[in-house]
Amino acid sequence: SGIVMYQWQGYWYPPSHLEAAMDVSKHFVAHPDDILLAAAPKTGTTWLSALLFSIASHGLIPKEEAHKLFSTHIPYSTLPEPLKDSGSRIIYISRNPRDAFVSLWHFSQKIQRGNSDPLTFEEAFEQFCEGKTAFGPFLEHVLEYWKASQERTQNILFLTYEEMKADTKGGVKRMAQFLGRSIETEEEVEEIVDMCSFERLSNLEVNTSKEKSPWAFFPYNSFFRKGVVGDWVNYFTPAMTERLDRIIQAKIQGSGLQFRFE
Ligand code: A3P
Repeated sequence: SGIVMYQWQGYWYPPSHLEAAMDVSKHFVAHPDDILLAAAPKTGTTWLSALLFSIASHGLIPKEEAHKLFSTHIPYSTLPEPLKDSGSRIIYISRNPRDAFVSLWHFSQKIQRGNSDPLTFEEAFEQFCEGKTAFGPFLEHVLEYWKASQERTQNILFLTYEEMKADTKGGVKRMAQFLGRSIETEEEVEEIVDMCSFERLSNLEVNTSKEKSPWAFFPYNSFFRKGVVGDWVNYFTPAMTERLDRIIQAKIQGSGLQFRFE
């Protein structure tokens, strides 16, 4: 049961996403002013792209650059080489794997792809542990961008959902600084943070409807649920926590990457 996925260059894709990923990797024309937002699914892509666009719309990024903003779930190793070489900037958002999985689980319940039998929570967890989720293995996705961000600090900014929640203003300032623009006033930072808050975004008319975006496959309202850190405690058994932790430790050991679970 579950949805059909294909493995390409080490990562899993549902068919429609695979086609899009192959297209991008072959045909993308890079520009040094490109700003790419990258993330594994359910780690805060929607929030970060709202922040990025609102930083841009505050006039901090010239108009001619603003149309060079992209967001993608494509893993670092599959990004088009010209894009990596062009000097474009990448902002990556990561999230602790327990919360990312819980978020993914709810999302997959909501979107009910095709006629496939939905997986039980336990089955879905097993697949997550095996790395079999869209754009997964999740840990490899995070680790690749993490390593790249350590090597190319000028080009890749590595953020986490947890630190963005704990200090959103600080995160916005880091983003603006990374993009080469300091935000003028504290009020501006606050305005950007407020414009993109969970409450505000999730209550926008477009986001309460079942309407689908032209580029995504899912209704806008499926991208908002709780918007908190640590919801995994309501779902994980001690055995699940332990199993996933062992996998995480084996993968990230020695890399300097760490996750915050609350
Ligand atoms: P939860 O399911 O844990 O609530 P993505 O955008 O990458 O698909 O990630 C979706 C997750 O981000 C969901 O997490 C969603 O609720 C949360 N989210 C969406 N908008 C947010 C916002 N403005 N602030 C904080 N979290 C947000």
